[in-house]
Amino acid sequence: MRGWHVFEVEIARRQVDDVSARLRTLGATGLQEDVVAGTKPVLRQPWDTGPVARQPRRVLLRAWFDAQPDLGDLAGAWSFQPEEDWNEGWKQHFQPVYISPRLTIAAPWHEVQGDGVVIIEPGNAFGTGDHQTTRSCLVAIERLAVPGGTVLDVGCGSGILALAAARLGMRAFGNDLDLDAVVAARDAAERNALPAVFTEHGLDALPGHWPATYDLVVANLYAEVLAALSADLLRLADGPIACAGILADRAQLVRDALGERALLVDETDGDWTHLVFGPRESRR
Ligand SMILES: C[S@@+](CC[C@H](N)C(=O)[O-])C[C@H]1O[C@@H](n2cnc3c(N)ncnc32)[C@H](O)[C@@H]1O
Repeated sequence: MRGWHVFEVEIARRQVDDVSARLRTLGATGLQEDVVAGTKPVLRQPWDTGPVARQPRRVLLRAWFDAQPDLGDLAGAWSFQPEEDWNEGWKQHFQPVYISPRLTIAAPWHEVQGDGVVIIEPGNAFGTGDHQTTRSCLVAIERLAVPGGTVLDVGCGSGILALAAARLGMRAFGNDLDLDAVVAARDAAERNALPAVFTEHGLDALPGHWPATYDLVVANLYAEVLAALSADLLRLADGPIACAGILADRAQLVRDALGERALLVDETDGDWTHLVFGPRESRR
């Protein structure tokens, strides 16, 4: 069988250059530096103070060989990676996500047509619709969309939620701290020819010409982030606030933080809780 012998070794960050050079000399045709499982630094939030998180001290170095060489005292793990059509294997993983007759999310290569289709290119940013948290927000958008109204997608990732709302007739706005996500979302808006704009600014610094309040706010973010943003969410949302990305055992944090609004939906499926709070006039 054709393929590659893959060598993985965990080393100190300061050794990367030396070990890479040695692996190259021994015939490595490709090298990749990766994070050791469980050591990825947490995304820095605007309210984080203090020193920037340090890069993990240890890294995982991966090297590809046509044949297994003798690596001497370099102790790591070998595996075999058969040659395959990576593009096709990867694509098969994604299926269109059908939400309703009015809304389907599809990848560019899916042959799905119709007015309710939003095309999202997988791989550019989080949010293809195949994650349960994204899907629960899509269902909420399908129920709560107000044609002609405004929607704010907090942590837009690929832009999927904003674009779904735009597909249902809303004027969509989205933000994300990650500039790559903002670029992906803008590309997706253009590809779908939908009225959606995106910014990398935080909720406390949205562009001045954007609406001051929104008819719907969606936020697929961790419970801790939702709680920290709760004052902004309550200020910006005239209409309902649909939240996901909440680990079930942290959900009370969000229920409390947004608790001045009526809780319309409180659903837990496996690890994840989905909450929808009512419009401004709704009280608990
Ligand atoms: C789980 S993804 C959600 C993506 C997409 N909205 C979806 O539902 O599939 C969360 C996104 O929020 C962004 N994010 C994290 N903290 C944020 C914050 N405080 N403000 C804005 N975006 C944030 C991340 O960069 C990431 O793109």
